Parts: sequence; structure tokens; C-alpha cells
Amino acid sequence: VTMEKQGFRHFMLKEIYEQSSVVRMVLETYISNDWTAASTTSPINLSLPAEFYTDLEQVQIVACGTSWHASLVGKYLLEQLAQIPTQVHYASEFRYAPPPLMPNTLIVGVTQSGETADTLSAIAMDKQRRAEKTPQFRPRLLGITNRMQSSLARLVDYTIDIQAGIEIGVAATKTFIAQLVAFYCLALDLAYRRQTLSATQLEQIIGQLWQLPAQIESILEQQERQIEELAHEFTETQDFIFIGRGINYPIALEGALKLKEISYIHAEGYPAGEMKHGPIALLDAKVPVVAIAMPGSVYEKVLSNVQEAKARDSRLIGVAPMHDEHAKEIFDDTLPVPVVDEILSPILSVIPLQLLAYHIAARRGLDVDQPRNLAKSVTVE
Ligand code: G6P
Repeated sequence: VTMEKQGFRHFMLKEIYEQSSVVRMVLETYISNDWTAASTTSPINLSLPAEFYTDLEQVQIVACGTSWHASLVGKYLLEQLAQIPTQVHYASEFRYAPPPLMPNTLIVGVTQSGETADTLSAIAMDKQRRAEKTPQFRPRLLGITNRMQSSLARLVDYTIDIQAGIEIGVAATKTFIAQLVAFYCLALDLAYRRQTLSATQLEQIIGQLWQLPAQIESILEQQERQIEELAHEFTETQDFIFIGRGINYPIALEGALKLKEISYIHAEGYPAGEMKHGPIALLDAKVPVVAIAMPGSVYEKVLSNVQEAKARDSRLIGVAPMHDEHAKEIFDDTLPVPVVDEILSPILSVIPLQLLAYHIAARRGLDVDQPRNLAKSVTVE
């Protein structure tokens, strides 16, 4: 297939724009459209057999890069929605220091390409060390991938296809969003089966999931130009700090990773509450702080962390709720996103950060789709 940019300057921008349809596609595939709170089956259909769910006690996820960030959001969802203890490992670390073998454990490999060597080796190692064990220790392996023909898909017992379509930009965008939606589906399915959410709660979350594609479109429509202009101010900036808390902490990591991958600007993602234990020493008027401040359990906390940065003269950019006067007062620039339940907010909060990274890199005249030193999939250890 010849891939074309369809009028976009780079594949990355095209792929950022495809995200609303990718989200819609994943939802259409896995959410039963006739489900109501009165139904007696799961609202989510991942086509997984009964043994997948039997006696499940914990989840261990292995991944690299952006997939590792998606997995951190996944952990939050699995623990907070389905009450299932979850650990996330860098695949390259898991392999040489695996956690002690635990029974009834689901191992999840998250890799968009399905070919990342570290992730494959970690999964293969776990499979092998479990092979001869008693039934409760036997491998139970799930792959979350964009490539159903990949090495990962062949290695695991079960797969969730994230259906994002081929991604050309080295910096992952639409596959990240699709991985997130896959994790929502998995967590909601487990929440239903483990009865950790009521039918009404499930119905509400699902109703809101369906709103996300239109909300993503509205962010893209309303903000791209503003973000492009803002980006012009950072072409000479050398350091950026991204902060977030709770379910948006991994989004701070992802915002920082996108920026460093394609713009070569040093960027650090940090949990906002940890700033005072070190990174705050870096702050001055030359180091902008991008804060993800979404309404919910940690909103006020993030804003007070932002105030601490303000006292150090940092320029403050807030991914903040639309029409929020308080946020407008605190931040020098706001990147407004529609207000949604906190649990769903990562799907929206990441969009302005992708655009910011993209426009800073494009403005610097860099090869956004093929950044130096990086490969789309790293097939060597
Ligand atoms: C490479 C890419 C990253 C990607 C990572 C994991 O480093 O440059 O964008 O996140 O691999 O890729 P995977 O295919 O395993 O998701």
C-alpha cells in the first residue's frame, strides 16, 4: 500500500488527526452496541475464552517507550475500575530481574509493532519459566498490538487488536490512543465480571467513551492554530518540564517523550507532587512547565503544585478544563480540553501535548517523521 500524507505536512500530523476515527473504530469493535444496565452479559466483547478470566488475581504488563506509558494508564484503570493489582515493567528490565513467580497472573505484552525485541524476549522468558509449572502458574499471555501478524501475536495465547491502521511517524500517536482505548475495554470487561462497578456506573462510563471521538475532533479544530503559534515561542527553549498526577501522570511522561523524540529539546515528565523533591531546583524563567490539570480528585493539588512553579518565574502552560476562569488566571497559556470524567481525561489531555511537540519540532525544521537516532520498531536488544 502506498501511504500518502493526504495534504498534511507530515505523517505524524495526519496520524494525530486520525485519532478520533481510531477511537471510534476501537469502541465499535469491542463495545456491544445494544448493551444496557439491565443486560446479563458484559458490555465489552473482546472474544476471550472463559479460562482467560478464571481465578485471575493480578496483572503484570511489559512494554517499552510510548507503549509503556499507555500501560501505566492501563494499570490505573485495572486497579481503580476492576480492583485488580497490576504492575507495569519496562520489558528490558523485566527480562533480567523478573518478579517472583505468582499464580493466576495475566501477563500482558503491549507493543504496537508486535516486534520490539525487549518486549518479545520478556514475554518469551516468562512463558518459558512458567511452562513446566502447576496449572495455576502456567502462562496466561495477552498481547495488545496493532499487528495481528506480528511475532508478539504468535507468542501469546490471546490478543487485543488495537486497529489503528499503519502508523508511519516514528513518534507514536494514534497507536497510543488506540492502546488506551483497548485498556479501557479490558478494564471495563474485568470490572463487569468482578462486579467492581455497578451496571449504572458502567453505563455512564461507556456513554462518555462514545463522546470522546467528537471531543477529540473539537480539540483539533479549535486548538491547532493556537498551539502552532505558541510553539513559535519555544524554538530556542532548551528544557521543558511536564507535570501531572494520578491518571494524568503517564500523560505528562508521554508529553515529555513526544517533545524530546522529535524536537530534541530536553523534557522531563514528573508527578506534580514530586517536584518539590528535586526538579523544582531546575526551574527559572527559561524552563517552561506544562501542567495537566484535569478536574477530579487531584485538580486542586495540581494547581497548587503549579503555583510553586510560578513562584520560580517559570512560564506556565496548562492543559486545563475549557471555560475555567481559575485555570486561566494561574496559567500563562491554557490549552483547553472539554470537561470529562477524570478517568477518561487522558484520551483528551494527550492531544494538545502531541500538537505542541509536533509544532515545536516542525517549526525547528526537523524531520518530524524520522527523528535522528530513533527507529519505528527496535528489533534488537
Ligand atoms: C521505538 C519507537 C517508540 C515506541 C517504542 C515501542 O522506540 O521509537 O515510538 O514507543 O519503540 O514500540 P512498540 O512497537 O513496542 O510499541
